[in-house]
Amino acid sequence: MNNAPIGVFDSGLGGLTILKALQKALPAEKLIYFGDTANVPYGSKSRAAVTQFSLAIAQFLEQKGVKLIIVACNTASALALNRLRASIQVPVMGVIEPGAQKAVKTTQNGHIAVLGTEGTVNSGAYRQQILKLNSHCQVQQIPCPLFVPLVEEGWAKKPLAQLTAAEYLKPLLKTQTDTVILGCTHYPVLKGVISKVLGPKIQLVDSATTLAQEVKTYLNANDALAQGRGSLTLYASDAPERFKRLAKYILGKKLNTVHLKKLNV
Ligand code: DGL
Repeated sequence: MNNAPIGVFDSGLGGLTILKALQKALPAEKLIYFGDTANVPYGSKSRAAVTQFSLAIAQFLEQKGVKLIIVACNTASALALNRLRASIQVPVMGVIEPGAQKAVKTTQNGHIAVLGTEGTVNSGAYRQQILKLNSHCQVQQIPCPLFVPLVEEGWAKKPLAQLTAAEYLKPLLKTQTDTVILGCTHYPVLKGVISKVLGPKIQLVDSATTLAQEVKTYLNANDALAQGRGSLTLYASDAPERFKRLAKYILGKKLNTVHLKKLNV
């Protein structure tokens, strides 16, 4: 079991921000990443659709013999986590809890804002989780639907990304917010433009490092840490060559083959 792989999935490229943190914290682990490029974006889709895609991916990963599945997507974590946990035999971890934990630890004044997809924001999952940890916090939520296509297009450094961030984040500049959750795994790719708009007094947090530490603690406690050399196998449900070209910018290195795996949904 120890040397069984860990499955990680997202609607597309965003989950690679989580994968990068996992590779850093757990270099001996064998990772399988699935980007659902045929169905991205998840953020504007219904709970039923996101659950259907997530289940199909989790079943595929389970067939690959994974010891753990990481839902490296806030939208799928917000909308489908409970259903996945009920249907899948291996443990399933999401990204909402670690992101909320980090924000509650980071804030000095209790004013937290969550940037996310429409699905994540409408689910209220972050608000619920933050208030569970500290009922005195004030939580503002802002859906930023155009951020995902900007990242999937490889446009994170274009002036359009800056203009889009300025427009979405305007309401935050007049508030007491001191901590902003990048509540979509695509958004850390836009960290530069987001922090330029918000300025140095606002802390940006995401789930990646906290989740990677949680995974490490969990595997350690279950005597399931891998030994030896880690590896990465990539799958995309459509256009694997395009995925490979763009993934290079997020992971900062050239990638091996990205396999095509169509989902039966
Ligand atoms: N990266 C995903 C998230 O964390 C999904 C973005 C999307 O597909 O809309 O929410």
